[in-house]
Amino acid sequence: TAVAVLLAGGTGSRMGADRPKQLLRVAGRELLAHTLDVFEACDDIDHIRVYMAAGHLDHARELVDRYGYRKVEAVAEGGADRAGSVRCALADLAGEPGDRKVLVHDAVRPLVSTRTISECVRLLDSVPALTVAVPSTDTILEVDPSGEGPTVTAIPDRSRMWRCQTPQGFRLEVLAEAHRRAAADPDFRPTDDGGVVRRYLPETPIAVVTGDEFNLKVTHPLDLRLAETLLRDRTL
Ligand code: CTP
Repeated sequence: TAVAVLLAGGTGSRMGADRPKQLLRVAGRELLAHTLDVFEACDDIDHIRVYMAAGHLDHARELVDRYGYRKVEAVAEGGADRAGSVRCALADLAGEPGDRKVLVHDAVRPLVSTRTISECVRLLDSVPALTVAVPSTDTILEVDPSGEGPTVTAIPDRSRMWRCQTPQGFRLEVLAEAHRRAAADPDFRPTDDGGVVRRYLPETPIAVVTGDEFNLKVTHPLDLRLAETLLRDRTL
């Protein structure tokens, strides 16, 4: 089994709603609750820790009580950026064994499947680090954003381009050591934990679990409309 760290410390500036997007009600309950539903239902997860945006902890705790999530062992405050929220979790997990399996997941990906979560937990028996990802259907452009307008600097072979999702899974000692090293480098602004491991523990292989397109990150208003439709039809 593994402990799940749910990252809900963001404010959702691109969504532009009156509250962080993880607290918006979609298909009958908050996005955070939909995400908790999946982890609560997955037998390979034993504990869940939620890292919440400052000022919204009471709301998150109330929701955990209301829906009765029994695996949630803490709702704590997140950090100033995503990596900061992960570091809050690592500080809280410091007493756990180094080989403890940890899954880090964006709370705003409510459509993750129990199948994907279980596959991650099981694969951590044989690999130290992994990420869920999907093959890119779009061609990915590398651009130079400076100057008058962005210009293309490279067009990598699409068959080798995958889009990163969460969960990402690690043995605790691996994630903790990578973040310890990253903390000493304030200029590094990672968007995911695989990126932190890749940069600071480059000898650590990162396995890929093939995910699915349903596992979207609710970021813009369009994503909310998609999530509404998809969550209404979901059965866990
Ligand atoms: N996150 C976090 N702590 C932060 C910032 C982000 O735990 N200080 C989490 C978000 O809550 C989200 C995940 O990291 O679950 C991915 O981040 P993103 O989609 O960028 O969320 P926001 O930062 O809320 O969105 P925006 O960038 O539009 O403000």
